[in-house]
Amino acid sequence: MKKLLLTLLLAMPVAAWSAGGSDWPMEDFEGDLHNLPSLQHGFKLYTNYCLGCHGLQFQRYQRTADDLGIPHDIALKNLVFTDQKIGDLMTTAMPKEESKAWFGAAPPDLTMVTRVREPHWVYNYLKTFYVDESRPLGVNNKVFTNVGMPNVLLDLQGVQRQVCTDGVCDELVVEAGTGAMNPEEFDAAIYDLTNFLYYVSEPARLERQRTGVFVLLFLIIFGSFTYLLNREYWKDIDH
Ligand code: HEC
Repeated sequence: MKKLLLTLLLAMPVAAWSAGGSDWPMEDFEGDLHNLPSLQHGFKLYTNYCLGCHGLQFQRYQRTADDLGIPHDIALKNLVFTDQKIGDLMTTAMPKEESKAWFGAAPPDLTMVTRVREPHWVYNYLKTFYVDESRPLGVNNKVFTNVGMPNVLLDLQGVQRQVCTDGVCDELVVEAGTGAMNPEEFDAAIYDLTNFLYYVSEPARLERQRTGVFVLLFLIIFGSFTYLLNREYWKDIDH
């Protein structure tokens, strides 16, 4: 019995990896909606590096700023780069048909991407762009083979190449000094960006968690009063 349990436990991570849809050993990702600085940083990275191509058609700047504790004037000045207003949806001006011709596929709206793909897929995807001269844009991806998206985070991460041993290419190495961030900083930035997309896929989750805490507190407090009251009632009754 013990042996069977052990085998099952050992097999679990493998099962989790294969769920990623590629052979790449996926790293875990655990979203944290209480980490406002992380979400704010992710929001900033998104508007700087992604919104030019990928809209968030159900997300408004105002709601995002409110949820993430950013004053409207600061959001407008630092995070809205078009002539859009704070109440507008975070759409993109990228023309669909043309972009299809440019990249081979139109950049999809990313509002739901962490639900369609799962957060850890997005996290690993953003970290595994690498140089591949055989591709039209000179870049490939370990999680999304032959992807049409350019490596837009190249300046931050630096030049990443795959390392192959005996024909198996299961390692990625960044050339030191080629990116604005070191590997730890880049990992943290991708965590924040993915965390932001995790929030965007269901903004109400934040509120629900807050409500959930109050409900639990209420139940605990109310429950203790009921218990005390019950004890009081039965105190003088002989069993
Ligand atoms: C220059 C345009 C462009 C920019 C900027 C860009 N992308 Fe993309 N992205 C694309 C294109 C094109 C695709 C579709 C690729 C395909 O289907 O082969 C794509 C695909 C994706 C996908 C996969 C979606 C899916 O489910 O198939 C994700 C996730 C993604 N991008 C995230 C991002 C993030 C996060 C950023 C900002 C760091 C970003 N992209 C910036 C063009 C862009």
